[in-house]
Amino acid sequence: MQRIWKPILSCLLGALIHLPGLAQAPVASAPARPASAVDLNSRLKAIEAEPRQFEASYKIGRKAAAVCANCHGEGGNSPRSDTPNLAGQNTAYLLDQVRQFSEGRRKNEFMEGIMRALSVDEKIGVAIFYANQTVVHKPAADAALAAKGKSYYDRTCFRCHGELGMGSEKFARVAGQQKDYLAAQLRRYREGKGPRIDPLMAANARNMTDADIDAVVAYVSSMK
Ligand code: HEC
Ligand code: HEC
Repeated sequence: MQRIWKPILSCLLGALIHLPGLAQAPVASAPARPASAVDLNSRLKAIEAEPRQFEASYKIGRKAAAVCANCHGEGGNSPRSDTPNLAGQNTAYLLDQVRQFSEGRRKNEFMEGIMRALSVDEKIGVAIFYANQTVVHKPAADAALAAKGKSYYDRTCFRCHGELGMGSEKFARVAGQQKDYLAAQLRRYREGKGPRIDPLMAANARNMTDADIDAVVAYVSSMK
């Protein structure tokens, strides 16, 4: 009995979930207009508060993430050192970066294009999907350098990115991030102009020497 009913039931459930107007309705009916930060954030909050919407949004995100996997890796652990992990990143931070790219405030020709092509639901979906993947831990290759980086990190960076590098709603998770990507971002903030400008972060990167950056990167990339 059970063996017959199980596939039929799951088939029916699948059909229900894919029927517009039913399970996905609150998520799938977003207007196709550019959403402001407030819109996106309040929609994210509403979706996160409602398990069924969360589930539906996660599925939309997982589907949309198929094109991202080429560069960011399956499940958001990037295979390339110059491309960021998205796994385990904070949802609100991810969504904010997605928005920054779509509005051309954070510059990267390819990322700007691909972000503009996402619907509002997909933007929220990819943020939810990636935030809920696990980062693969990579131990430090040079323990002495990482120890130097830790003392630098523990003097300033922890104030915003947290003692364990997990960030918060507002601030990026940095723990376990890819090395070349981290170094490139820190140099950009240090320059204070170009493709990525953030006054808070720029103020913290301004006085970093190349050696400071190397040490901090060795530490941060090895944080769990
Ligand atoms: C062709 C490769 C490529 C593809 C495909 C791609 N990305 Fe990216 N992505 C990058 C690179 C490279 C960066 C870093 C850009 C920079 O240095 O600012 C990036 C940056 C990001 C960031 C910022 C991360 C952070 O920590 O600030 C997010 C979010 C992101 N991508 C999401 C996505 C999503 C979602 C998709 C799929 C819809 C996607 N990307 C597809 C290459 C790619
Ligand atoms: C006063 C708060 C503050 C402090 C202190 C701070 N940061 Fe940041 N950091 C930010 C903000 C805000 C952003 C996001 C800016 C944006 O959207 O471009 C950021 C972004 C970053 C990013 C990019 C993350 C990503 O995924 O692309 C890295 C890497 C980073 N910080 C590392 C550091 C390091 C290392 C230090 C210590 C030297 C540090 N931060 C200190 C506020 C801070």
